Amino acid sequence: MHLLLALTSVTVLVGGCFSSAASIKGGGNFTWETVQLTTREIGNFTALRFGNPYFASDVDDDGPECRAFPGSSDWPEESEWKQLNVSLGGGAPALLRPVPPGAACYPTDSTHYNPATCRFLVRQAGLTHFWIDDPLSVLTQWPQGGTCMATLNVAGNCTRGGYPEYVVNATTVKHIQAAVNFARNKNVRVIIKNTGHDFGGRSTGFGSLSIWVHNLKSFEFLPEYEQGDYSGMAVRVGAGMEAWELFNHMADHNITVIAPGGSTVGAVGGWMAAGGHGPLSSKFGLGSDQALSINVVTADGRFVTADTENNEDLFYALRGGGPSTYGVMTSVIMKAYPPINLTTVPLSLSVNTPPMPTFNFTLPTNGTIPGTNTSWTNFTLPPISPGTRTPGMLSDAETFWKGVRVAYKFTPKVLAVGGYTYSYIYPLGNNSFTFTSTASVPGMPASEVSKLMQPMFDDLHKVGINMTNPKLPENAGGAYAGRRMNGGGDQPVNTRYRSRLWPRTNWENDGLFNRSMAAIRTAIEKGGYTFHAIGYGPSEEVAGYPVTDVGSGLNPAWRNAVLHASLMEVQPTGITAAEAKERDARVLKYTDVFRQLTPGAGAYMNEGDPAEPNWQQAFFGEDNYDTLLGIKQDRDPWGLFWAQTTVGSEAWEVRTLDGYPCSQNGRLCKVKGWEWDRKRSTLE
Ligand SMILES: Cc1cc2nc3c(=O)[nH]c(=O)nc-3n(C[C@H](O)[C@H](O)[C@H](O)COP(=O)(O)OP(=O)(O)OC[C@H]3O[C@@H](n4cnc5c(N)ncnc54)[C@H](O)[C@@H]3O)c2cc1C
Ligand SMILES: *[C@@H]1O[C@H](CO)[C@@H](O)[C@H](O)[C@H]1NC(C)=O
Ligand SMILES: *[C@@H]1O[C@H](CO)[C@@H](O)[C@H](O)[C@H]1NC(C)=O
Ligand SMILES: *[C@@H]1O[C@H](CO)[C@@H](O)[C@H](O)[C@H]1NC(C)=O
Ligand SMILES: *[C@@H]1O[C@H](CO)[C@@H](O)[C@H](O)[C@H]1NC(C)=O
Ligand SMILES: *[C@@H]1O[C@H](CO)[C@@H](O)[C@H](O)[C@H]1NC(C)=O
Ligand SMILES: *[C@@H]1O[C@H](CO)[C@@H](O)[C@H](O)[C@H]1NC(C)=O
Ligand SMILES: *[C@@H]1O[C@H](CO)[C@@H](O)[C@H](O)[C@H]1NC(C)=O
Ligand SMILES: *[C@@H]1O[C@H](CO)[C@@H](O)[C@H](O)[C@H]1NC(C)=O
Ligand SMILES: *[C@@H]1O[C@H](CO)[C@@H](O)[C@H](O)[C@H]1NC(C)=O
Ligand SMILES: *[C@@H]1O[C@H](CO)[C@@H](O)[C@H](O)[C@H]1NC(C)=O
Ligand SMILES: *[C@@H]1O[C@H](CO)[C@@H](O)[C@H](O)[C@H]1NC(C)=O
Ligand SMILES: *[C@@H]1O[C@H](CO)[C@@H](O)[C@H](O)[C@H]1NC(C)=O
Repeated sequence: MHLLLALTSVTVLVGGCFSSAASIKGGGNFTWETVQLTTREIGNFTALRFGNPYFASDVDDDGPECRAFPGSSDWPEESEWKQLNVSLGGGAPALLRPVPPGAACYPTDSTHYNPATCRFLVRQAGLTHFWIDDPLSVLTQWPQGGTCMATLNVAGNCTRGGYPEYVVNATTVKHIQAAVNFARNKNVRVIIKNTGHDFGGRSTGFGSLSIWVHNLKSFEFLPEYEQGDYSGMAVRVGAGMEAWELFNHMADHNITVIAPGGSTVGAVGGWMAAGGHGPLSSKFGLGSDQALSINVVTADGRFVTADTENNEDLFYALRGGGPSTYGVMTSVIMKAYPPINLTTVPLSLSVNTPPMPTFNFTLPTNGTIPGTNTSWTNFTLPPISPGTRTPGMLSDAETFWKGVRVAYKFTPKVLAVGGYTYSYIYPLGNNSFTFTSTASVPGMPASEVSKLMQPMFDDLHKVGINMTNPKLPENAGGAYAGRRMNGGGDQPVNTRYRSRLWPRTNWENDGLFNRSMAAIRTAIEKGGYTFHAIGYGPSEEVAGYPVTDVGSGLNPAWRNAVLHASLMEVQPTGITAAEAKERDARVLKYTDVFRQLTPGAGAYMNEGDPAEPNWQQAFFGEDNYDTLLGIKQDRDPWGLFWAQTTVGSEAWEVRTLDGYPCSQNGRLCKVKGWEWDRKRSTLE
């Protein structure tokens, strides 16, 4: 158990950004991090003044009830936005007021309507980086309100909806400091956007100023880095780095760094701040376990370094305690490892589905969830070399579910050797199902991996499934890093996840395990949901230093997990608030059973439900939440950084016109009568 070290001393809070001389070899800040906001530059532009959390009153004490919004009396004057733009300085335009790309599809928008552009957006943009590189767009659109969709069948007019009003295209720390100070001093809602992958609407918001960190892409390899008790290879990574870009740097330097599985997911941002899982997480831990030093602009506008010796409270909170809460991260120093290979054994079972002649591992890209009008998203499976998969066509559902049980039952054996499993179960209608799964093990010869997996195939035989353990050539193991990537494409989808971190206990008792499997089967069979499960074992031991020394803000449910499992569905845009509430209520019936079977466990916030009941416990852990809330109140008493289901977010609510649950298309206001149980430690 780890208790948080004494919270940051008052000296640091009052005095700003001092740091003791740490034993650092290399790892200097990036050049753009040394470009900082000075009091001379602030001059008489009071809107840019730094804040002082020590003298700030708490969110629940006083101040305006709501954040300003365009049209409200306290919304900054045009001239002030202009002055902000000038203060951002430099040649390139840093303050943007982007038009949503979908405007090209709306004939009523005579200025932006452009059928050719619209066709590009609908047909091709998803195969490119267009959406990831766009300053406004987010991949999950329903929280924005779906008010300006790129579609060939537009309804209504393109409006800004939950998109931010202004965007600071941050390329220096000064840009971020100016944006933070301006927003705090002028009561403007702030959002932070990196890649826009968030499933929970945490990178978009009505009437906000967006701090867009996407262009902070610097990278530095630190062959001999020392920090605290760590001594070894490390990398400094800018906050805008995407996984595929990091893979290319790994290839350049012949190293391994823990990165997200999704190639355009940010390798720092929301992924790391919430935990962040990747293929090597059972071997080296989660994303948040990799951080050795984090540079961050806090809510007072100051730029500080957080590590085991400086700003320890921030260092604790930023590693797993949630995104968009304690500050804007600008760069992170992460551990780096020698190259490692990953050997993958696939397994696939289907029932009642017509045989697929050459199984290219692309499942049907469309279809409808039984009993709903919800269609599939275009799922992409992890790359698996063709030829190694033996399709297991079964004729009866009972055998299929027995096979699924065998595969999940076996998961801990894969985790025990540092491996992970990755699976989906798709309900295809008419009692047809497909289960696709892979087990991947790092740093083990293929023959040993085959041996490891043999008992699973033996058990499949016992339940009547004649599957053979694929004979892997000795060089089957592909390098985890070393691949050159171009990032591929992404398009807006509306996948909605409900996550549960299923703990080890559920594997230790056969009765409980069987009931767990039955609950999952029911949610797929009766609920019609797609099931996605990733087996991970990111224990503290695996995470290593600094977690073993100073802990971290990570949801403790991760440490004890076997499966990060989710129910997925598509939340269509354009449904009414009442329909959205019905869908929430429907899925709750199934996920409640999961919660009852896993008392005290949690959920992964990044792939969790923004409507998760008791999300404080589920996403953060009961005790950890209190610690993190204390840090939030100390560091951001203004509640400047706000995103739903993040620490301290319960003091605020988004007031939408139509009451659509979890939408970001409305004013951000304080919850009436809200009072914190706990006050800031510095005031005690
Ligand atoms: C296709 C796809 C694949 C995925 N694969 C994985 C995976 O393999 N492993 C995994 O763990 N998760 C995965 N996810 C989930 C992913 O972790 C979340 O979507 C996560 O929020 C993405 O973070 P981001 O910074 O890229 O995106 P954004 O949507 O831009 O940001 C997400 C959150 O982080 C905050 N944030 C961003 N940058 C900063 C910063 N510099 N400082 C402070 N706050 C910041 C934002 O305000 C927001 O709250 C995947 C998601 C998708 C859509
Ligand atoms: C990076 O900047 C921070 C904040 O100004 C400072 O405390 C830290 O010492 C700097 N780090 C290095 C290695 O220069
Ligand atoms: C602020 O200072 C500038 C010169 O630096 C001056 O032109 C301007 O009038 C001042 N504004 C106010 C409000 O004092
Ligand atoms: C953001 O800033 C970078 C660097 O100045 C620039 O290259 C890029 O075009 C800007 N992006 C937008 C959308 O303006
Ligand atoms: C900010 O200033 C630049 C020029 O310096 C300009 O191109 C840009 O449009 C301005 N931004 C806004 C929102 O007015
Ligand atoms: C859409 O915009 C047009 C032109 O601006 C306006 O006449 C019309 O009333 C708007 N429709 C809706 C539904 O708001
Ligand atoms: C990469 O690193 C490994 C071990 O760290 C080493 O054995 C190998 O020779 C290196 N490869 C190249 C191409 O440098
Ligand atoms: C599947 O792959 C095979 C061989 O690579 C190819 O010939 C076939 O066209 C592919 N099928 C589909 C549907 O893409
Ligand atoms: C599914 O895809 C096929 C081929 O692309 C297409 O013809 C069909 O209309 C699609 N069905 C649905 C329901 O989208
Ligand atoms: C599906 O759509 C059809 C036609 O729009 C409608 O009649 C039906 O009620 C819908 N079904 C569900 C379950 O929403
Ligand atoms: C599905 O994704 C693939 C690869 O990203 C793409 O080639 C294909 O066009 C997509 N299909 C649909 C129906 O969007
Ligand atoms: C299992 O399948 C293999 C080849 O796919 C076949 O040779 C063998 O007879 C089958 N065994 C049983 C018990 O069906
Ligand atoms: C990874 O596998 C390749 C191909 O089998 C092999 O050449 C390489 O040495 C392996 N690397 C490591 C680190 O095991």
